[in-house]
Amino acid sequence: MRSSHARLGESKPEAKAPNQTTSDRLMSSHPQQRPQGSVRYDHSGRVVLVTGGSNGIGLAICRGFSQAGASVLCADIAEYPDLNDPNVHFVRSDVANPSDCQHAVELALEKWGALDVLVNNAAIQPASSYVRLEDLKTQDFERMLAINFSGYTFMAQHALRAMRKQQCGVVINIASGQAHRTTRGVPVYGPIKAANVLQAMQWGVEYARDGIRVLSVSPGAIDTPLVRATLEAQGGERELANRHPLGRIGTPEEIANAVLWLSSRDASFITGTDLAVDGGLGALGAFAEPYPMR
Ligand SMILES: NC(=O)c1ccc[n+]([C@@H]2O[C@H](COP(=O)([O-])OP(=O)(O)OC[C@H]3O[C@@H](n4cnc5c(N)ncnc54)[C@H](O)[C@@H]3O)[C@@H](O)[C@H]2O)c1
Repeated sequence: MRSSHARLGESKPEAKAPNQTTSDRLMSSHPQQRPQGSVRYDHSGRVVLVTGGSNGIGLAICRGFSQAGASVLCADIAEYPDLNDPNVHFVRSDVANPSDCQHAVELALEKWGALDVLVNNAAIQPASSYVRLEDLKTQDFERMLAINFSGYTFMAQHALRAMRKQQCGVVINIASGQAHRTTRGVPVYGPIKAANVLQAMQWGVEYARDGIRVLSVSPGAIDTPLVRATLEAQGGERELANRHPLGRIGTPEEIANAVLWLSSRDASFITGTDLAVDGGLGALGAFAEPYPMR
């Protein structure tokens, strides 16, 4: 993600060295003394549909697949920022609208003749939804349900139909750490994210014998516009970073890396399950002493 603001959890911002990625910079608060290893993915020839790919995590996923040689269709209500990337095609779609979902899948099939990967990523968490259930506005609830739950369902419905004809494909639902544990003041975001995990499990079981794998990925806090918009409601920047055992929040690229792996043949025996990419957030017990603030 390119932006001018300081990265969350980055206590000592450093000048960006040539070839240094966002992940490198976020992780530089704890420099590694030994070689770390890396993995490169080849998705050439594959067709990938990413919802909500114009910002944050979705943008990193689009860029990751593009760099790995895939043809990518970004379906979003906001325009894709890298319109000169020849591997990425943008279609304006509101995933809450079933006919937009159908159109996006049909467009991928028309353009490239197949659909290999669907990443259900578009979701919203308006600041006004951080309330007790009794104070939740009906329009906030209906919009979150329409995008975060129905949008995943409509997209998968059309994608799975195409994948079943091919007898192969991968669907990845971006869920959340809030699918697995909760706190005060988030009455619907987490429950819908829990449903995204169950969707992946159910669809994974249903379509396994058709050569299709379905998974969910549950991020911890990731430095994106969605998180930036609700920082105060989440206790502020340093507090949010400190809640993660790794002492920082994640980068969109760290979620994209998990998606690039899970959707590849290297993850061929993994389906119907969830992967936490959360800096240890989910492992930290509620009984644990909070980390001292630095
Ligand atoms: N950022 C985090 O810390 C975090 C943590 C856990 C899970 N997630 C999940 O990751 C996913 C991406 O989150 P993000 O932080 O990158 O969000 P973001 O707000 O930065 O980006 C979301 C994208 O979705 C698009 N979008 C919104 N409504 C849409 C609609 N109706 N149809 C199509 N596109 C639409 C937006 O235009 C935007 O490009 C979401 O599913 C979110 O719940 C994020």
